[in-house]
Formats: sequence, structure tokens, C-alpha cells
Amino acid sequence: MPVKITSLEAENVKRIKAVQIEPASTGLTVIGGNNGQGKTSVLDAIAWALGGEKYRPAAAQREGANTPPRLHVTLSNGLVVERKGKNSALTVTDPAGHKAGQQLLNEFVEQLALDLPRFMAASDKEKADTLLKIIGVGDRLAALDREIKAVFDRRTAIGQIARQKQAFAEEMLEYPEAPDEPVSAAELIRRQQEILARNGENQRKRDRQAQLEQQVAALQARVDSLAEQLRQASEQCTAAMADLQTARRSAQDLVDESTAELEASIRDIEEVNRKVRANMDKARAADEAAALAAEYEQLTGQVEQLRKDRLALLEGADLPLPGLSVEEGCLTYQGRRWGDMSGSDQLRVATAIVRRINPDCGFVLLDKLEQMDLDTLRQFGAWLEAEGLQAIATRVSTGGECRIIIEDGRVSGQDTESRMAAAAPRAWQKGAF
Ligand SMILES: Nc1ncnc2c1ncn2[C@@H]1O[C@H](COP(=O)(O)OP(=O)(O)OP(=O)(O)O)[C@@H](O)[C@H]1O
Ligand SMILES: [Mg+2]
Repeated sequence: MPVKITSLEAENVKRIKAVQIEPASTGLTVIGGNNGQGKTSVLDAIAWALGGEKYRPAAAQREGANTPPRLHVTLSNGLVVERKGKNSALTVTDPAGHKAGQQLLNEFVEQLALDLPRFMAASDKEKADTLLKIIGVGDRLAALDREIKAVFDRRTAIGQIARQKQAFAEEMLEYPEAPDEPVSAAELIRRQQEILARNGENQRKRDRQAQLEQQVAALQARVDSLAEQLRQASEQCTAAMADLQTARRSAQDLVDESTAELEASIRDIEEVNRKVRANMDKARAADEAAALAAEYEQLTGQVEQLRKDRLALLEGADLPLPGLSVEEGCLTYQGRRWGDMSGSDQLRVATAIVRRINPDCGFVLLDKLEQMDLDTLRQFGAWLEAEGLQAIATRVSTGGECRIIIEDGRVSGQDTESRMAAAAPRAWQKGAF
């Protein structure tokens, strides 16, 4: 069971003349009063009683007091804590009557519960670290945050390169009329030589025709001069004429092919290939740009997944207060950082976290609760009740929300001579908060 404060008696501590208080065991006990009446002195007295020497007020003894400060605190675990005498020496007595000391108190008294402003004044990062420590996911969350940053940075870099590459590809020249592959000079020359060879063959046939023409002419001449050989020569002539006919037919349809186009191609080969290479470079650049864009998309998915993992990690953790989180290393509540939270939310968050640091400590001291309006105060009180937590708070007010009113260092209406009589709250206030 978390330890609560059952009762407090204090005399001559700072502004206090004499007070006796029995705070509600759970929920809010509001100590009200006007300024300078001794409200904060009551909290200081509790902190000194339970927190040890470092909480001793600078001017601990009330000015004008005839006797030294005296503190008497009883706790729900049966311990009795006292400070009295000239040096305000500490005595801790357990239910069996054995004496103990500060060390025993330290086991269940959470320092921040005595000094909530210390938590509230810590940096955003320190607050986040405290939360992560108590919910036990700090290491995993830090690893996820590092991973998210690394992937995010890589995605940013890739995105930049992809855009540059795209722009570069768009600016490069393109030649739609150029062939897809570079042209080979050797292939064109080979084709040229084939044509030249065929043309050579044609020439040989033409030569043969010319030769036969000559032969016919010679034989014709000889027909005139050599009558005797006429018949023979006529036969030869007939045969030769037959050959001639054949030769004429074969030569008749011969057409020489032009090599002009190929010669032009050979001349243009360098220019054509330059364009082909330019087109290939452009296509490659466009491909790279597309691949980078795809990688960017994939990294976007990765960042989103890591963010989901992070959210799931925090949602799965046992948070002291729903709505608490850690974003970019800073504590947040309902998405807001400390500086953007309302004063009452800050108190609620601080109380919830400090409470969880040491679950054995069942109380927390809250100074200056006037920043909560009555509705918020009521909600806060209900939340404390539900949490089983005891809060002893001060508030500049003398309204009905105050369980106790402090006036000139005393509890208003309390007969300090008969101590036990005035410990109970005013009937109409009881249970209101
Ligand atoms: N040792 C002391 N003896 C007498 N008066 C003291 C001593 N120490 C502080 N005071 C006075 O007590 C007053 C403050 O007391 P305390 O802080 O408890 O009042 P409070 O009710 O919380 O006031 P506030 O509403 O302004 O917060 C101041 O006037 C201060 O000068
Ligand atoms: Mg005060």
C-alpha cells in the first residue's frame, strides 16, 4: 500500500504558529487562505519532516516564537516522524516502538513529491527521460527515433538527386531520326565491296560481248575474202551469232547498282553515332531518375512504418496518464509540449509522473493551486481519488473548496490548545473535493 500522511502537527515553523491537519486519505486536501498567512509554510513543514535536512527552511523557527519548531507527522504505515528540541532533531518511531531514521523514510518518500516545482522546472528532455524511465521503453524508442531520422535523411538526399537527374535528363538533346544502334563502318564497306564485285562480273560479261562482236566482224570479213571457206566460216558465223544472241540476252537487263547511298552513310557515320550515343545517354539518365523516384517512394513507406511502430510502442506502454507521449525527445500531453500546456495540465502531468516514480509514495504536495478553476479543481480531485493518491495543496482562496483555511499561522477556527478537537474538516467541506 502506498504510504499516506495521516496527520500533521506543526508549531513555530516559518510563518506557522500552530496547526493540526488531518488530510483526506485520497484526493485533494486544499489549504486555503489569503496571501502571507502561512499556507506554503505548511507544505514546507511537511517536506522538512519527511525529506530530511536538505529541506530545512533557511529561517526555520518563526520569528518571535518562544519555543523551537516542533513537527509531528503520522503516516499510514504506522510510522511517527517528529522534529523537536533546540536542533530540531529527527525521531522516527515504528509501530512496534523501535527507533528508525531518515533512511527508512527515504524508502517511500519520493523527493519530487515533496518538491513538485523541481520536476516542473526540469527541461523538456529531462521530463521525457523521466517518463521513459518509468514506462521502460526509453531504449527502444530512442533506437526507433534514430532509425527514423536516418531513413528520413536518406530519403531527403535521394529525393534531391532524383530531381536533379530528372531535370538533367529532360535537358539532354534527342534525335528521333537516328537508328537505335550505332552503325558499323565495316558492314557498310562489306556491302559496298559486294556490289563492286557484282559490277565487276557485269563488266566481264560486257567485255565478252565486245570480244564476240570483234570476232563476228573479222569472220564476216573473211567470208568476203575467203569464198572457199565460206561455208565453214558461215557455220562458225552462225554458231558465233548464236552465242552472240545469248550474250545479248544476258547483257540486256543488266543494271548497275549505285553505291552513292552507302558512300553517304560512310561519310555520315560519325555524326549518326554521336546522336545514337546521345539518345542512349538520355534514356539511361531517365531510367536512373525513375529508379531514384521509386527508391524515394520506398523510403517514404519505411518512414511511415517506423512512425507507426513508434506510436504502437508508446500506446502499448503503461502510461501514468493517457495522452502522455514523447515526441522528438520532449514530453508531450495530448500532443502539446510542456510550454504549451495549460498550468492545470502541467500540474496533472507532473503529479501523474512523479507518483509513478515511487509507487510506495502515496502523497504529493502542490503549491499554488489557484491556477485551477473550480471545475478543473473538481476534476483533478476526482482523478486523484481514482488514482488513490493523496494531494495536499495550497490555494489563495477562502472558498468552500478549501478543507482548511490558514489565518495568521493558524488553522482558522481551530482551538490550538485542545489539539485533537479541530483536526476534522468543516462539515460542509467534507468530501467536496
Ligand atoms: N521564520 C519566519 N518567521 C516569521 N515569518 C516568516 C518566516 N519565514 C517567512 N515568513 C513570512 O511568512 C510569509 C509567507 O508565508 P507563506 O509563504 O507560508 O504564506 P502563504 O500563505 O503561502 O502566502 P502566499 O499566498 O503569498 O503564497 C511572508 O510574509 C514571510 O515574510
Ligand atoms: Mg504560498
